[in-house]
Order: sequence, then C-alpha cells, then structure tokens
Amino acid sequence: MFQTTTYSGDRVKDYELVIQQLNALLEGEKNITANLANTAALLNQFLDDINWVGFYIWDEKDNELILGPFQGLPACIRIPYGQGVCGTAAKQLTTQLVPDVDQFPGHIACDSASRSEIVVPLVIQGKLFGVLDIDSPSLNRFDELDQQYLEKFCEVLINHLG
Ligand code: SME
Repeated sequence: MFQTTTYSGDRVKDYELVIQQLNALLEGEKNITANLANTAALLNQFLDDINWVGFYIWDEKDNELILGPFQGLPACIRIPYGQGVCGTAAKQLTTQLVPDVDQFPGHIACDSASRSEIVVPLVIQGKLFGVLDIDSPSLNRFDELDQQYLEKFCEVLINHLG
C-alpha cells in the first residue's frame, strides 16, 4: 500500500524524496501502462498547484503523440509531431518550460484552466518514447529547479521502462 508522505517544503529534499518513492514504486514491475499510471498518480499527489499531469506516447506509425495515463480532466487524444508544447518537446527533444501558455505559439488548450506548463521528453536508448506533460492554473508555476529535478525524475522513470 502506498503511504502518503508529508513533504517538508524544502523543494530539493522533496524532489529527492519523490525520486526515491518513484524508484520504490516501479521496482520489479515491467508493465509500461501500470508504471506510467502510478507515476502520474505519484506526481499528482506530490506537486501542488497543478491541474493536469500525465503522458503522451509517441506513435511512430502515425507521426503523432497519443494520450497515455494521466491525472486531471479528459484531454486531447492526438498531438501531431511538432505541434503544441508537447509536439515541440517531441521534435526538439528538449524540455519546454512555458511560463505563460498564451505566449507559446501553437499551444494546444486541452484544459482552459491551464496557464503555465512544463513538458519533458522521454528518450529511451536514443529513441523518442513520449513526453511527460504538467499543467498549472497559475502563471510561472515551474522554474529551472522544477526542470532540473523533473528531468532527473524522468531519467529514473526511463530506467524502469526500457
Ligand atoms: N497543452 C499541450 C496539450 C496537452 S494538455 O496540456 C493536457 C500542448 O500544447 O501540447
């Protein structure tokens, strides 16, 4: 059974703790859907001030991202390569830190409450697997520290998906 934790409020310590929790949560399980679903749930209880967290999975055949496990309101199912924040992260293979979604050309609004967003690409052995997408109802919710630790978090996740 998952034990909820009271995080300390020290962002570095808390990110390090949630990365340990992720490792423990995924240990010994190979099912990708289950691991992504639990990862989205873990992040949803960890991060404050967010309204959506989840995954889009790369579909090479159709050249688009397809909605995967998430927490939040029902969302857009397909995102073409290079479009929106997610499609841009997938194309550039770099994290997109978006302080104001209205200033991001081509942002795809799935939940009208979203004001800022971060998208981290997931690359397994050099190949695009998908993206982690997190939305917030507040402007400027995510900063470089979130980026640095969410990228570390995704490295741990990737180790359990390969
Ligand atoms: N805003 C994203 C679309 C996905 S939703 O935020 C869940 C984008 O522009 O790619």
